This record gives sequence, structure tokens and C-alpha cells, in this order.
Amino acid sequence: MFSKDIYIKRRQKLINDVDKGLILFLGNSESSMNFLHNTYKHRQDSSFLYFFGLDRHDLSAIIDAETGEVVVYGNDYSIDDIVWTGRQTSIADKAKSCGVDKSGTVDNLKSVLKEAQIKGRKIHFLPAYRDSNRIKIFEYLGIEPSNNEAEASVELIKAIVEQRNYKSNDEVLEITKACNTTVEMHLAAMRFAKPGMTEAQIAAEVEKVALAENGNISFATIATINGQTLHNHYHGNIIKEGQMFLLDAGAETPMGYAGDMSSTFPVGKSFTSEQRDIYQVALNSHEKSISMLKPGVSFKEIYFESAREIMRGMKDLGFVKGNVDDAVQAGAHGMFFPCGLGHMMGLDVHDMEDLGEQYVGYNNEEKSKEFGLKSLRLGRDLEPGFVLTIEPGIYFIPELIDMWKADNKYSDFLNYDKIEKFRNFGGIRNEEDFLITENGYQLLGKELPKTIVDVESERLKAFE
Ligand code: GLY
Ligand code: MN
Repeated sequence: MFSKDIYIKRRQKLINDVDKGLILFLGNSESSMNFLHNTYKHRQDSSFLYFFGLDRHDLSAIIDAETGEVVVYGNDYSIDDIVWTGRQTSIADKAKSCGVDKSGTVDNLKSVLKEAQIKGRKIHFLPAYRDSNRIKIFEYLGIEPSNNEAEASVELIKAIVEQRNYKSNDEVLEITKACNTTVEMHLAAMRFAKPGMTEAQIAAEVEKVALAENGNISFATIATINGQTLHNHYHGNIIKEGQMFLLDAGAETPMGYAGDMSSTFPVGKSFTSEQRDIYQVALNSHEKSISMLKPGVSFKEIYFESAREIMRGMKDLGFVKGNVDDAVQAGAHGMFFPCGLGHMMGLDVHDMEDLGEQYVGYNNEEKSKEFGLKSLRLGRDLEPGFVLTIEPGIYFIPELIDMWKADNKYSDFLNYDKIEKFRNFGGIRNEEDFLITENGYQLLGKELPKTIVDVESERLKAFE
């Protein structure tokens, strides 16, 4: 964890920003796989990590926004637990390590909350994304699990987003560590994959890099020859010469900070000429987006420019016709680019998605409901301290082609005869992570090979 002063400062700012009442933080419980004691690797809640840095299951905390009192709650292990888990730091000592002098048991927590309710005090809590915490909030506060999100405190969400969206230098160093490991994960795949292997073999080679750093993967690895399926977690195919391989994978540091990168490379030593042409269009869009990163620029505008760049390139290749600006204005780029351009990243790979994208990525404005644009997780003006991904892609999704073609959708802009011939082409995406600085941007982590020449030269290492 960071030094305790950092957590004290973060909590003090929260106390200043939240007007009245108690702020309740619920850490995460263990999560079972197939029976109670067979659990997934524990992942602490990110807001709990941000304000307390404590990575044990079943911890909670209350901050009194009026008196400034902070208490960490949890039950100490009994000897029955210790024989299985080994010696554990007491809850009191854990609390002290993040600058909190007071601690209590779960029963103490329940009575403090009951008393506050009797006195009619406001109790702020965050929307729960795990059922175990929905149930705890029901048990502690009587709020039905189905009302959890509606009853969560918008004031608290906004105050937390206002802190977590701006990464400190210490956080940037941690994220950079995650990004460097993430680059190594991608290099491992490029130097390993060969025709005849399964996607699963490559996924395993990639994930071991993150695990060997004593961290974890930051999200479920996408390692696929079917890159047109955006979140494709199936790893059962045998990869063949002539196909492209899309890897979207990232590392999480032991402190919980994420990296998130994508690369696309040929399964053989080199891309085919059709793959090369379309790869270059996707890469041009990626580079164009990066060149626009600086404070004051709207990320939504960068998204539209990345879409125009894709449509310009696809027009040169005969997939698109008509005026490119009009095509993007109408939404025709959704055929190839039906998702967003990037997202905030930090303690979560999609940072604070649990708190709501309208607060994190849209500065409290409503998000679009249009196809394509509704998947843009970030649309606000950029500010120094933001950490985000850039990840435009070009995808040929057979079901989308069939549906839009049947409806003659955007037929003024889309050349369906040509698109149809590429229905099994797959998908291409490059993704890198950036910090917005006072004057522009900084790439986080080492550079990933992404030009055609660099990717093909990296691929040769797999065949040496
Ligand atoms: N890396 C997966 C995603 O950004 O959705
Ligand atoms: Mn991403």
C-alpha cells in the first residue's frame, strides 16, 4: 500500500466534499467458485482500496462527514481460521496502517448504523455490484437489493469520482508498472504463437507474465482469431496460417492498478495484403486519436475524428462511398466500429464503471443511446491527470452485416457488395494507455510494436 498519509489526505478531502451524515464503505467478501470454501482470488473493492489501502475480505469502514471520525470494522480471525490461514494482522493494526486509530467488529458496525438510522442521519453508500454487498446493505440498512442502485448516494459518487479521476504521481507510477507488465504480456504472445496452437495456449503464455509479477490479470483475457467479437473469451480454436490473432489483455499490480492493451498480429510470419491494408487504416485511426490528446479537447470529438479516419481509409479501399463526414454524422461507421474509442483506467480497468459512466466519463451529462455512440464510455473534455485508453478498431461482424444489409441501412455510404466479401475477415484493434499532461499526453509503459514492420519483425522471433 501507499504511505498512510496518502489515505489520510484522500479521506480528509472526502470529508470536506460530503456535506453531512455517515459515509459507509463496504469492502468485498470472498467470492466462491463452486462451493463455499473454494474461492476466486480475492479482489478488494477499488474505492475501499483507494481510501483505506486494505486488502482483506469483509472489512467495512465508516467516515463521519460531520465529526471527521473514521472507524474500520471487521472480525479478527479465531484459532479455527488461523490454522488454515496462518497468523493474521489484527483489524486494529490494519486500521493503524492506513492512519485510522479506531476499529470495531461487524456487530459494532451494525449498532452504529442502527443508531444513526434512529437519529435520522443520512447514510451514504456506493452502488453494490456484488450481490453479497447488496445483501449486507439490506441487512444493515433495510434497503431492498433491487433498490440498491437507486438509493446509493449520488453526492458520494460525485465526490469520489472527483478524486479518483485525477491520478497522482504515485498512482501514475503504479499504472506504469501495470502497463510495462502488460507490454510484456503482448510481447510474450507475439514471440510464442504459431500455427497449430490453440488460443488457450497463447492465453496461458500471456497470463503467466502477469501472475509472475505477483499481481493478476486486470480483466478476462481476449485471445482470439475472432477479434470481431469485442469481448470474446472463447479460447478453444486452433490458430491457422493466414488468420489474424487479436489479443486484448492487461496486468493488475499487487496494489490493484490496471493496464489494458490490445494488439493484432498475423498467425503466420506476415499479414496478407488485405489484412495489411485494413490494419493500416485501423492504425491510422489509432495514431490520429493519440495526436489529438490534450487538456480541453473533447474525447467525444476525438472519437468522431477516429471514426472519420476509419471511414476515409475504408473509402479508399472501396468499402465506403459518399461523403465521409456525412457518413459519420449519420452513424454509418458503426458497421466497422460499433463501440467506443477508450475509457478511463486506474484501480479498475474501466475505472469506476461501478459508480456510473455518466459521472466518470461524462461529467454528469447523459450518455447517448445511439448504436455505437452508446458504447463510448468516455465523452468529456480531457484534463491533466486523466488516465485513459485509445483503442479504435475495425470489425467485420457477420450478424451486423446481414442485419443492416437486409434493411438497406446506410446504403448511400456502405458498399455492401465489397463488405459481404469480407464477412469472415475478423477484427483488428490496437490499444495503448495514456496520461493526459498539462500540455498533451504521455504514453504509459514501454512502446508496443504496432507498425506492420515492427509487428512482423516481432513475429519472426516465434519462428526462430
Ligand atoms: N480491455 C477490454 C475493454 O476495454 O473493454
Ligand atoms: Mn480497453
